Amino acid sequence: MVDTIRTIKLLSKWSANRAIGKRRPVIAVFSLTHYCNFYCPMCPFGDSDKEGQIMLAKRKDLTTDQWKMVFDKVSKYCVWSIVEGGEPTSRPDFMELVRYLHDIKMPVTLISNCSLLHTIDLDELKKYIQFVTCSIDSVFEESYCKVRGVSLQIYRRVMDNLNLLTEHKVPHYFNSVITKYNTQEFIDKTYFERAKQLGANAVSFTFVEDRSDVDYSLLPDRHTMVRVCESILEHIESKADPQVMIPAEYFQQIRDHGRGMFDECGVWKSIFVNGNGTVMVPCWKFNSPENTYNLLEKDVGEIWDAPQWDIARTCHDCEVLGCIWYSSQPVSTFAKNYMRGLSKMISQEKPELAEAI
Ligand SMILES: C[S@@+](CC[C@H](N)C(=O)[O-])C[C@H]1O[C@@H](n2cnc3c(N)ncnc32)[C@H](O)[C@@H]1O
Ligand code: SF4
Ligand code: SF4
Repeated sequence: MVDTIRTIKLLSKWSANRAIGKRRPVIAVFSLTHYCNFYCPMCPFGDSDKEGQIMLAKRKDLTTDQWKMVFDKVSKYCVWSIVEGGEPTSRPDFMELVRYLHDIKMPVTLISNCSLLHTIDLDELKKYIQFVTCSIDSVFEESYCKVRGVSLQIYRRVMDNLNLLTEHKVPHYFNSVITKYNTQEFIDKTYFERAKQLGANAVSFTFVEDRSDVDYSLLPDRHTMVRVCESILEHIESKADPQVMIPAEYFQQIRDHGRGMFDECGVWKSIFVNGNGTVMVPCWKFNSPENTYNLLEKDVGEIWDAPQWDIARTCHDCEVLGCIWYSSQPVSTFAKNYMRGLSKMISQEKPELAEAI
């Protein structure tokens, strides 16, 4: 259950800060570990050197107590938290960490590749988190395996785990990263049908944001992007299930302009904490020692007063990344769509929570 009083107090504090021109985060994103068991070509954690990644995680990942300290600091500002990684469920203390977030009244969305959910007590998990965002880019084995860099066995394991989520009544929705490998199922709308069959209450999409550290692009060509956008817009207009959690404007803008449009980047509305407790200002694309702050040593307020946030005032480098587009929209667009999507989704499985938000 979300603590409504806590949420209202924090939102009032956030608005008061806004009124005097101070930026502060309102959503927390915790990247719990540098390790991931997948090989997604669009993601830096998809690195094929898994032994090296395990060593890195052992050396750099925050300990359980350090994460708890970070959670305490961040919970003074943020109304919601998103737990991701790497693969967050790969941490042996994963349940202890989400239980701690629950104990300090921080609502949690878990983002997971879902391949390890069978190793977790889902009845316990659903006491601590609000939803699982299942990263299901494709509902067909061939495209799934291509976008995620994994074998058919892993695809089957993930599908079985999605059924476990449904059986244990854990609220979940799907997020798909649209790349050149998985456009057809959006164009012919089979993604929606299959997502519904797999128990997804809602779906969310983003076109892939190409990595700057590799020499390949995974974005579909312009013509295909337009067809994908048109098809998703038709689905939104039809009001059929599953509901799309990203507003129609995102797809309209990409169809019409080839990118998402915004005045000022809203990356500052979220605090993104890396696996080692650092925060990059304004974001991961400006990764340099002078833009890196350590949350174990500094407070959120100090970091949010840093001069590098000014970069985000004019930067438009993220052309299609759904979460950055969303956080850069006027508060009214954001609130209207977010609340509508959230309450519809929750009401199907947790009616008491739908009333509380
Ligand atoms: C980095 S992953 C971490 C959590 C977990 N391993 C997973 O895949 O769900 C968080 C989210 O970022 C998405 N993602 C990864 N690379 C991306 C990219 N280049 N563009 C857009 N989204 C991306 C993933 O699909 C996932 O939904
Ligand atoms: S499963 Fe998640 S963290 Fe791992 S490589 Fe894929 S997108 Fe990245
Ligand atoms: S638009 Fe620029 S500042 Fe904003 S998240 Fe993207 S790279 Fe960072």
